[in-house]
Amino acid sequence: MKQTYPASPLILAIDTSCDDTSAAVTTGATILSNIIASQTQLHAPYGGVFPTVAKQAHKENIDQTIKVALKRAKTSWGQIQAIAVTQGPGLAPALEVGIAKAKKLALKNSLPLIAINHIEAHALSALAEPNHHAITKTAKKTIAETTINHQFPALAIVVSGGHSEFIKITQIGKYKRLGFSIDDAAGEVLDKVGRMLNLGYPAGPIIEQFAKKGDAKKYQIPLPMTDREDFNMSFSGLKTWARNKLEQLETQKPLDKQGIYNFTASFQYGMFRHICYKLNKLLKKHQIYEVWLGGGVAANIELRRMIRETLTTHNHNNQRRNQSTKIKLFTPYSKRLCMDNAAMIGVVAGFKFMQQKFVKNIDSLERQPRWKIDS
Ligand code: KG4
Ligand code: ZN
Repeated sequence: MKQTYPASPLILAIDTSCDDTSAAVTTGATILSNIIASQTQLHAPYGGVFPTVAKQAHKENIDQTIKVALKRAKTSWGQIQAIAVTQGPGLAPALEVGIAKAKKLALKNSLPLIAINHIEAHALSALAEPNHHAITKTAKKTIAETTINHQFPALAIVVSGGHSEFIKITQIGKYKRLGFSIDDAAGEVLDKVGRMLNLGYPAGPIIEQFAKKGDAKKYQIPLPMTDREDFNMSFSGLKTWARNKLEQLETQKPLDKQGIYNFTASFQYGMFRHICYKLNKLLKKHQIYEVWLGGGVAANIELRRMIRETLTTHNHNNQRRNQSTKIKLFTPYSKRLCMDNAAMIGVVAGFKFMQQKFVKNIDSLERQPRWKIDS
């Protein structure tokens, strides 16, 4: 007998791709709960994520995180209709914990399992919707309706601690990477520069706050990769520039508070200028109707402002050429949705459920630490 599936199932989603243990309950693109057990304090002494420490903490946190996610969503196991889990990319030992748990839960509760690409989840995180009303546990729209008012192709900009990518979305599920960082990710470099300045980890949000009090024009940061026609980015040269400049400045005298504000403001501006420069180049070559921003660095208000400015200039130029296309920017509705979280995994799973893209053999699902979105 052919099984029938609901249009907006309740999905329990799990993400353990890096240093946060997260579980969420979603229906359609509506987020009913999104629990994140952060490991930030554990990794802070290393100034980055230490894989074996992450694995151990995931193991310790995962059961409780799932329990709280169900409770917050006022959902019981009997109501869950599928399990979704991040299969990759991410840290192999960390991914392993979430996948093992998801397999076990799917088998135990006889539920379909959906394997999700973490970058696809960041790319679609702007589609997530809050559950404004008291929990009815019914999506306000089906997942298919979520994209009705969107115009494709869209461009996702995913900027996080592990990735910096421009992804063309011709439809949900059809992706092409148009550009990516050829070395470090944007967030990774913010964290490393933060470490040079002893700002604490993760440094991205601290740099954002400090930069507000500084002069972004104080230091001229080189604009990388301008001699190339591609849309790839490179951040490691900026990191080297920061190290050299700091050494040079500190041989004269240590930076005072205002000096650090100016340095972080200039550095942040230089990094975002590089992203916007490449974005502008890309938009001249590709017909794009919407930009969807995602990833930890996407929480940064200054980055959002600079991207908006780039789009406004582009739209003006189009108008002058009598082209009516106006590119719109979409961002996740909360900072929580920018960072690693399971709700965005649930949103992608909603689309996969609709297409019944379930894992065929649950036992044999394996992590894919280097899974590219368009491979
Ligand atoms: O998406 P995410 O939580 O994890 C990864 O998938 O990597 O991103 C974490 C990164 C860190 O490098 C952190 O410094 C950066 O995002 N980040 C920020 C901000 N909040 C987090 N960078 C700039 N401004 C922020 N407000
Ligand atoms: Zn991520």
